[in-house]
Amino acid sequence: MKKLFSIAAAILFASCTSTAQDIKLPAADMNQKSLSMVETLRTRHSVRTYSSRELSLQELSNLCWAACGVSRNNDFRTSPTARNRKEIRLFVFTKKGVYEYLPVENILKEMAKGDQRSLVAGSKEFSQDFVLEAPVSLVMVLDLEKMGGKDERARMMGCVDAGNVSENVNLYCQSVGLCTVPRATMDSKGISALLKLTADQFPVMNNPVGYPKED
Ligand SMILES: Cc1cc2nc3c(=O)[nH]c(=O)nc-3n(C[C@H](O)[C@H](O)[C@H](O)COP(=O)(O)O)c2cc1C
Repeated sequence: MKKLFSIAAAILFASCTSTAQDIKLPAADMNQKSLSMVETLRTRHSVRTYSSRELSLQELSNLCWAACGVSRNNDFRTSPTARNRKEIRLFVFTKKGVYEYLPVENILKEMAKGDQRSLVAGSKEFSQDFVLEAPVSLVMVLDLEKMGGKDERARMMGCVDAGNVSENVNLYCQSVGLCTVPRATMDSKGISALLKLTADQFPVMNNPVGYPKED
């Protein structure tokens, strides 16, 4: 009986202290209602104020897929990268934690617990607090390790590719009624430390995402 009790206690302890809370995403919805491409381009604009409405898991999946999800053969992405290096890693900051989006597995892999969105808002020197209103912020990290070179040209291509991911997010949000703004401001050092990035991996762009504030 005593032994049974200690096994039960061990199981309870293990479940209470389990570390990673990875999230399996539902498949992205390929039949979403959206504006036409021309209407999306005509109306896209940056938004810096958001409603408190959260995104559902389905909406989060759709958003990540639009940013850099699998487009074909598991080998291509919705955003193009130089020589298809796929060197942009996408991190999702929410109130609950920070996750890396893994396109092929279609999961959000937990990287840190808790609300770390203030690192996306900015640093001591300059911060944009409206970012804290957005339920989600996407951070694009350039991973030079995947570029086959680390010189000036590789960096330039990597930054272009981060911009491609960000622009996918800009256009997707506009087309489905979400809102966003592409940003370079963030606490890059703080984010690098949180995500344990190497010197060859660095945050380039971010997009806070939410619903428009009701009037
Ligand atoms: C590379 C880049 C960096 C930007 N960084 C910021 C930023 O840190 N903060 C911000 O509020 N807006 C930022 N913006 C948004 C621009 O200010 C905005 O796109 C521009 O004023 C044009 O407005 P529109 O997007 O509504 O057309 C950035 C845009 C780009 C393309």
